Amino acid sequence: MLPALAVPATDDLTSLRRQVDGWRAQGLTIGFVPTMGALHAGHVSLIETAMAQADRVIVSIFVNPMQFAAGEDLETYPRTLEADSLMLAAAGCHLLYAPPPETMYPQGFSSAVQVEGPATGLETEARPHFFEGVATVVLKLFNRVRPDIAVFGEKDYQQLLVIRRMVEDLDLPIRVVAGETLREPDGLAMSSRNAYLSAPERIKAGRLNVILRDLAHAIGDGEPVADALHHATEIAAHVFDDIDYLEVRDAETLYELGGGPLDGPARVLAAVRVGKTRLIDNMGAAPDR
Ligand code: PAF
Repeated sequence: MLPALAVPATDDLTSLRRQVDGWRAQGLTIGFVPTMGALHAGHVSLIETAMAQADRVIVSIFVNPMQFAAGEDLETYPRTLEADSLMLAAAGCHLLYAPPPETMYPQGFSSAVQVEGPATGLETEARPHFFEGVATVVLKLFNRVRPDIAVFGEKDYQQLLVIRRMVEDLDLPIRVVAGETLREPDGLAMSSRNAYLSAPERIKAGRLNVILRDLAHAIGDGEPVADALHHATEIAAHVFDDIDYLEVRDAETLYELGGGPLDGPARVLAAVRVGKTRLIDNMGAAPDR
């Protein structure tokens, strides 16, 4: 049972379906924003994007065990349901769906969605389990909510492309909409995991977007990708405790690019470690013509 919350909420699939069926019977369209909670202004912006494109907006909060490996932060991931519900109410969310883990993954659960293509490399190198967990839970949530549109943040760019691929490959009647990345005043991408950063770590974290922006500008201005990447990696190695990846990939497919000058839209993507916190960010780059 959920506690009393500031926004209409349910943890029950039958109630969710009844509500969605009622809206559909009135001819209303459904927008969906899946989240793991610990909401911040970045999530609110995704909800606003959904509100602009659908008549009713459902937000899910579910910390998905299937996308965490042993030793990752599943237990300590911030859980702030009451504060989240206040943000959802202020954003005008029509329904919060917060299913209990045992109803998502009951005893005997044995299936998984496997996506290749855009899921290859990058996040998968450090977190091989990750996209299978994400694709599986998102497909389950899509089947439960049955939205017309679903909004995913560009902050998790590889995740956005993986979900787009899955929706296309599996013929799901859902339009995936990209939500822009919201940033703190120093450019740090907003993320629930920023809450883990100590004050000195927070200052370092603010350098990631600057390194990515300079890299995107350099390759946009025609500097060979290999040279610009080498320079950016040297700086990042100096600032951060570890670099999981810092790469330039094709913007649409996430295929690896050659080391020469850009000849089409690209994406610079990175995951770095600051103390115990893992930060990810990305930016678009295009040749200046
Ligand atoms: O981006 C997230 O918060 C999660 O990966 C998602 C899409 C809610 C699936 O658990």
